Amino acid sequence: MSEPAVIRSTQGEIGVLTVNNPPVNALSAAVRTGLDEGVKAFGADPAIKAIVLIGGGRTFIAGADIREFGKPRAGTDLNEVIRIMETSPKIIVAALHGTPLGGGLETALGAHYRISAPTTRLGLPEVHLGLLPGAGGTQRLPRLTGAAYALEAMVSGRHIPAKEAASKGIVDRIAEGDLLQSAVAYARELVAQKAPLKRVRDQQVKLESPTAIADFERSIARKARGFKAPWHIVKTVQAAVELPFDQGLARERELFQELLTSSESAAQRFYFFAEREAAKVKDVPSDTPQREIKTAGIIGAGTMGGGIAMNFANAGIPVTVLEVKQDALDRGLKTIRTNYENTAKRGGMKAEDVEKRMALIKPTMDYNDLKDADVIIEAVFETMEVKEGVFKKLDEVAKPGAILATNTSGLDVNQIASYTKRPGDVIGMHFFSPANVMKLLENVRGKATSKDVIASVMTLSKRIGKIPTLVGVCEGFVGNRMLRQRGVQSAYMLEEGALPQQIDKVIFDFGFPMGPFQMSDLAGNDVGWRIRQGKKEKEQRNVRYTGYVADAICELGRFGQKTGSGYYKYNLPDRTPIPDPEVEKIIEENSKRLGITRRAISDQEILERTLYPMVNEGAKILEEGMAQRALDIDVIWVNGYGWPVYRGGPMWWADNVVGLKTIHDALLKYKEMSGDPFWEPAPLLKRLVAEGKKFSDV
Ligand code: CAA
Repeated sequence: MSEPAVIRSTQGEIGVLTVNNPPVNALSAAVRTGLDEGVKAFGADPAIKAIVLIGGGRTFIAGADIREFGKPRAGTDLNEVIRIMETSPKIIVAALHGTPLGGGLETALGAHYRISAPTTRLGLPEVHLGLLPGAGGTQRLPRLTGAAYALEAMVSGRHIPAKEAASKGIVDRIAEGDLLQSAVAYARELVAQKAPLKRVRDQQVKLESPTAIADFERSIARKARGFKAPWHIVKTVQAAVELPFDQGLARERELFQELLTSSESAAQRFYFFAEREAAKVKDVPSDTPQREIKTAGIIGAGTMGGGIAMNFANAGIPVTVLEVKQDALDRGLKTIRTNYENTAKRGGMKAEDVEKRMALIKPTMDYNDLKDADVIIEAVFETMEVKEGVFKKLDEVAKPGAILATNTSGLDVNQIASYTKRPGDVIGMHFFSPANVMKLLENVRGKATSKDVIASVMTLSKRIGKIPTLVGVCEGFVGNRMLRQRGVQSAYMLEEGALPQQIDKVIFDFGFPMGPFQMSDLAGNDVGWRIRQGKKEKEQRNVRYTGYVADAICELGRFGQKTGSGYYKYNLPDRTPIPDPEVEKIIEENSKRLGITRRAISDQEILERTLYPMVNEGAKILEEGMAQRALDIDVIWVNGYGWPVYRGGPMWWADNVVGLKTIHDALLKYKEMSGDPFWEPAPLLKRLVAEGKKFSDV
């Protein structure tokens, strides 16, 4: 018979309830019912004087079972479990280790006392699932810590270290030594002292200042834009301040239910699992042997190379950075140091850690210094000739078994691999800029890349703090390939009647941090201009050129923020984009020259013409096997391009919000309007619509 979800045992007069639901002791129906029955049984047992509640394995309860949300409920309700605990006639001590999160911490707040291991990190992260703590957390946490602190904790959803939790009264004691034994000893001590059955609900909420809630609300205006949950959390804390406990609890329930049935929460819950799924590779089993990575090498100390090196140093992995010229090497190292020092100044790391991290980064101009590296990542200039030289050299110096990675953002990884005699060891690792900040990694699988290299790089990605995805070799890989579609239509709409500020506003209002023209001004308009000049794109037949306005803007030296003007003008150092009549004139003249009569373009048309082609391209990517699943594309867009997580990702949005048929029909409508083959729906999209299926079914 399998073990129960909550195991009962005794240590003398102390009853111990051990939650047993690996891997993270999520509050499944069986756990909730087990707690209900366990607390009642010990409560009624005259031989038991107090109860210790602890998690088995790696953590205390890490929250509700997210997979159960939205499904018919079985077992005892969590709020009822907590009520039973709180009203138990026996003192309950919650013993916390690992990550007591969400419903886990809320359960612990229903205990009378809390003891924590020193390494515990606890919190109420429901906000990341588009939810609020729905088991009394919004009413109990402010009673322990004060309203403003609780607001910050719940709206950031951050993990709070044990020491801080103790200083704020969330836990009563930090354990030394074995947690269970410390908790049992603590319970005995409380019994001996005839300590009261301390109930958080009986305490008063402290309001740090009369305007604390309004001040907080103002402070999150930018960050919480478009999200529902943070604002609902504010309402619950307002209720905690103003209402008696039970009424506050009822208000929490009402707001929780509203979020639970919202599309935002459905999207964010989808995303939680999507991110974890994306790290798994379908044909590479989790037990694939992996290569050990103890040291790394980076070729190139520029913006990308330096940023990548920082990831390794942050993870405690020694990294050698190679440049061909001394001044470039010095500059690169100086930038890294400045980045760290700035982080330290802002309080993001300790001053001594700056030196510790710098000590892990070894500068060199000698390829031989890379001979012991377990992984070498190339981040040099983006031309095939330069990559060829680097990979031939790496093939000579790298030890057998070293992983050779390219950070190319668009070149053919198969061709790069062909410059070595070990293409199985070659893989793409496409970092996003700034590489020390951006979480996304598109790892690029070449046709020869071996499975153990893939497995090792996916694990390494997580070790260096990234969110890994695996993509195939194609132009622009997944993210940039889809971005390009948005860019094409944005450019055409400028010619047909829209202005940059109108397009940018639609994209911003959708939830992106900025629109395509602001983004281009930020990245530098000259980058694309030079590429277009190199490609002679204008001369391609059958393709409508996208660069007329962009070229005209660059010809005037309007390269973007760095030159104080681009699609907008800027009063530097202020980087607020200001719509510019000059640009409007350039755009209008361009339309005239092309013989296009400008017309009013609605916001809805902008939305459809920028986002639907991305979905269509996503369908092609999926069909070609360049992404493993639709959810990988979503993870790429949420992490690398600012797609609002409360809309799931482009493919989830298409599946669940817009509907594939609507997108399919709109593509055909624009095809008819423009006669442009650009709009042809992808074969996969056509098929799914015909079969009434979704991308998630593929
Ligand atoms: N429900 C269901 N499954 C969960 C889960 C949960 N709450 N938390 C984690 N898992 C699963 C993961 O999907 C993963 O499954 P696979 O191995 O099949 O991919 C497995 O448990 C291990 O998780 P991680 O890979 O994330 O492991 P980790 O060690 O890196 O992190 C963790 C552990 C910090 C607990 C992290 O999983 C996490 O943050 N979990 C979510 C915690 C959370 O949000 N809790 C609040 C839930 S909502 C709630 O409680 C509402 C309420 O008020 C009642």
